[in-house]
Amino acid sequence: MSQPILTTERLLLRPFCPEDAPALALVANDFGVADTTVAVKHPFDLTAAYEWMAPLKDAYETGIRTTWAVTLNQEYSGLLMGMVSLSTEEADQGVAELGYWLGSPYWRQGFATEAARAAVTYAFENLGLIRLQAYHFTRNPASGSVLLKLGFKELCQRPQAVRKGNTLEDIVIYDYLIGDYQAKNK
Ligand SMILES: CC(C)(COP(=O)(O)OP(=O)(O)OC[C@H]1O[C@@H](n2cnc3c(N)ncnc32)[C@H](O)[C@@H]1OP(=O)(O)O)[C@@H](O)C(=O)NCCC(=O)NCCS
Repeated sequence: MSQPILTTERLLLRPFCPEDAPALALVANDFGVADTTVAVKHPFDLTAAYEWMAPLKDAYETGIRTTWAVTLNQEYSGLLMGMVSLSTEEADQGVAELGYWLGSPYWRQGFATEAARAAVTYAFENLGLIRLQAYHFTRNPASGSVLLKLGFKELCQRPQAVRKGNTLEDIVIYDYLIGDYQAKNK
């Protein structure tokens, strides 16, 4: 089954394709993105873009992860701004993990919330999930704001729980239960 495309008022969420490499290298070569994510290195050049995209198709087809390119829809420009993902390795137990990042020129315009909400809706409405989980570095409260706006609840804070390069990062862990989603959306 081909990866679903998700649409919102301003956005088109679609699979990455090789032609995205130059735009991906441009948007991801941003210390503001690399600083608070694990999977984006810095600097991030064209080779890094191809390497980053290489496993995505297989990951979708084997049920490990769905990764969408977050783009402005055609009414605007189709511009690639970042990504949103659902890690679904535990989907058979009803659980997945949400991830996202946007290039810094696109922050604080509601785009992360809009993109992540589409992925959350897809997860609960189409995948039969019962719980989404997510985390962010404690020093990255912007990501916490996105999660709280979506309906996630903070569960706990854990010190030195994620390795990023040579550093251990403190994190805040959240989840979003299907019952809370249904109550919020009825
Ligand atoms: C975290 C991130 C995704 C937020 O994206 P965004 O598009 O700016 O988020 P939104 O515009 O949807 O904002 C959601 C809420 O967060 C708040 N917010 C955004 N940036 C913020 C900041 N730097 N500090 C505090 N709050 C912030 C917004 O004000 C908004 O709340 P409001 O509607 O009540 O005002 C973006 O900053 C990013 O990609 N950062 C780098 C990578 C990253 O950290 N990814 C997440 C890893 S867990």
